[in-house]
Amino acid sequence: MHLLSLSRLASVVAAAGLAASLTVPAAAQPAEQRTAAVIQPAPPGRLEIFSWWTTGGEAAGLNALFDIYRAQNPGVEIVNATVAGGAGSNAKAVLKTRMLGGDPPDSFQVHMGHELIDTWVTTGYMEPLDSLYEEMGFNTAFPQGVLDIVSYQGHPYSVPVNIHRANVLWYNQQVFADAGLQAPRTFDEFFAVADALQARGITPLALGDKDTFESVQLLETTLLGTLGPEAYKGLWTGETSWSDPGVTQALATMKRMLSYTNADHAGVTWDQADDLVISGKAGMTIMGDWTDGDFTAKHFTSYGYVPTPGTTGVYDALADTFGLPKGAKDRPQVLNWLRTIGTAEAQDAFNPLKGAIPANINAGSGQYDPYLQSAMADWRSNTIVPSLAHGAAASEGWLTSISDAVTVFVTRQDVAATQQALVQSAIDAGVG
Ligand code: GAL
Repeated sequence: MHLLSLSRLASVVAAAGLAASLTVPAAAQPAEQRTAAVIQPAPPGRLEIFSWWTTGGEAAGLNALFDIYRAQNPGVEIVNATVAGGAGSNAKAVLKTRMLGGDPPDSFQVHMGHELIDTWVTTGYMEPLDSLYEEMGFNTAFPQGVLDIVSYQGHPYSVPVNIHRANVLWYNQQVFADAGLQAPRTFDEFFAVADALQARGITPLALGDKDTFESVQLLETTLLGTLGPEAYKGLWTGETSWSDPGVTQALATMKRMLSYTNADHAGVTWDQADDLVISGKAGMTIMGDWTDGDFTAKHFTSYGYVPTPGTTGVYDALADTFGLPKGAKDRPQVLNWLRTIGTAEAQDAFNPLKGAIPANINAGSGQYDPYLQSAMADWRSNTIVPSLAHGAAASEGWLTSISDAVTVFVTRQDVAATQQALVQSAIDAGVG
């Protein structure tokens, strides 16, 4: 039997020399077609893996990877170096201190796209992985667009373990059924639903922006739903001006959305916002599909999901990857980690727990729940755009500058001043 051909090219940002397209697979291959490169056990020793995966679904997924690694490398002790805080809000700073101080972890979680390339590759901190990719068949195991954005000057620098989606609106099905509500697809529908929930004494939109990324992600999805995918992508290349009236409109819409959130959102994390939906105190939350993993870990099944308002047919994508920093202390052990996490088997163990779909095109036959199956179908058919809050769309410096503007916006809610700050951020980033 033959490898299934890659099915289509979906456009994605062409920002700063990164890939202009993502190729997505037609379907997962049957297990017997998977290329099973044999991984020899690493010599006894240790392996330190650095990430921010501490919540239920995140930790469960990571442990599934560790279990597979331990079975293949019985003499290796794994050091699980986690720093809590969604989207790496605390971990990234700790990582920077360690990397700059010459004490890199053996491998660390890093988003594909600008976060990987601009922060660590162009600065000379990572080793290329050409021979590992060749040996493991990874050059044909990942979609071309993913290969492109984990690569720099033609050399791959990390191994993607998943694909996440940022633009999902999650809702409590029971709450919606009791109120006779349908999941909103547009901003108008969102506000109608929000009014109806509020009239019943239910917080319409659970928000937990203690770690800032959550409100940045709310802005990102609101921009996407307002501008549409092409103009949204243009924000990262300079083709869409940040002074565009669509940006003004998105900020005004987000301001209105904020008026429907829980008052204590600044002290709440994304997974605590999930709890508000689980308990029925809130009707909806807007978060990436790690919420699917969180719900699963919390045994909550009465949830529904739709793309965030205005984004039906669009996949706001990001991927978690791991690479090999120069000076890694446990080289044979970390090479085996990278070999393992790229395989279809590991990705099918990890992603159903994590709430993500596999990056490996030969995977997809694990215990994926209905949401994840729908996400796999959407990944194959939707327009793909890069996530801002999760490192794909913009460099870390630019993201930090936008995050600062959003933090002020959430408290002061001044649309004009915020737009001006965003225009300046783009100029400072050399775009726009
Ligand atoms: C993202 C990361 C996901 C998930 C989420 C919340 O940045 O890619 O894997 O962990 O943060 O922490």
